Amino acid sequence: MTTLFTPSEINGMTISNRFVRSATWSGMAADDGACTPQLVDLMVNLAKGGVGLIITGHAYVRQDGQAGPWQLGIYKNELVPGLKTITQAVHQSGGKIILQLSHAGFYAKSALTRQTPLAPSKVEGLSKSPRKDMSILDINKMVNSFGEAARRAKNAGFDGVQIHSAHGYLLSQFLSPFFNRRTDKYGGEIQNRARVLLEVLQTIRKVVGRDYPILVKLNSQDFIENGLKLEDSVSVAAMLSEGGIDGIELSGGLLTSPKFSPSRRGITSKNKEAYFRDEARSFKKKIDVPLILVGGIRSYHVADQLIDKGVADYISMCRPFIREPDLINRWRAGDLRKAACISDNKCFSPAMAGEGIYCVTEKKKKGL
Ligand SMILES: Cc1cc2nc3c(=O)[nH]c(=O)nc-3n(C[C@H](O)[C@H](O)[C@H](O)COP(=O)(O)O)c2cc1C
Repeated sequence: MTTLFTPSEINGMTISNRFVRSATWSGMAADDGACTPQLVDLMVNLAKGGVGLIITGHAYVRQDGQAGPWQLGIYKNELVPGLKTITQAVHQSGGKIILQLSHAGFYAKSALTRQTPLAPSKVEGLSKSPRKDMSILDINKMVNSFGEAARRAKNAGFDGVQIHSAHGYLLSQFLSPFFNRRTDKYGGEIQNRARVLLEVLQTIRKVVGRDYPILVKLNSQDFIENGLKLEDSVSVAAMLSEGGIDGIELSGGLLTSPKFSPSRRGITSKNKEAYFRDEARSFKKKIDVPLILVGGIRSYHVADQLIDKGVADYISMCRPFIREPDLINRWRAGDLRKAACISDNKCFSPAMAGEGIYCVTEKKKKGL
């Protein structure tokens, strides 16, 4: 029987249990995206706290792809030595860590990048400031930027990379008919909308070699009118699976849609947990690579059932680890009470204010 504490392997990377820290922007990088001691401490605490696999916050592969302040960057070679301090510290603490590669596309912060955001299409009325719809040359350059970023990640000692194609950032915009109104080979039917993502995968694979884990984070659905639908997303997963991806983390929703955001509020009962579990079942039928499920998982028993029933191969969480970086050690030691996280999303505020992420509710409780 597979249990939550059964070790496993993803393309040669041994993971000590089935728990993944989902990518989490923590607002702790330097202004230029460089690693800081605060960020190293955060990752070490997660590794020491028992997380099997840590995924960094999204790191921008090019300067024009920065999504927010104090976000980790992977856009130039000079950032590699700083990133090495993270990987070395995590490895010394017995953990595994992969870097999430991202470009914000339509949602790049021009106030920070000082450039017009690139997007699959312009989408009139969606923003007050201009966007540039990408030419074929822009797309080719973008694909290469992901490859170069992956090369840097490997040089920095990361155990693998994850391509961010969820939540409405660039690669997820290409998949979504709402954002992608193109009429060339990158728009229209799902085979075309998935083309950039597959090219990114192939390019990264060429750069890093066969034996290096490449994961992807994918939206199961966008949950908006004319957004990416489950049926198309399952096809993309099948294409990626055939194209040599090593694992798929399943998420959903857009940062811009409060009700169906990727980080839903009010996870007050077990049946509200694992809010993409139905979608996961559809994915499992079509893919033969590990499925990592994220979204509202809070209880040990829910996690255990998801693995036991074969709904998912890995349990991924984000907000619970902000409050309890040692949650997995607690569970392993037999204290199986659910995660203390109440999913109120207050953790975003300190990160936006430049203080670095922490659990506001926990701090208040302690009277700090
Ligand atoms: C503060 C914060 C930062 C996040 N940063 C990222 C990120 O960098 N990349 C990403 O793919 N998802 C990011 N997410 C989404 C989470 O990884 C996860 O998909 C979502 O919160 C649902 O999981 P949870 O219910 O365990 O929190 C972030 C979520 C939060 C709350």
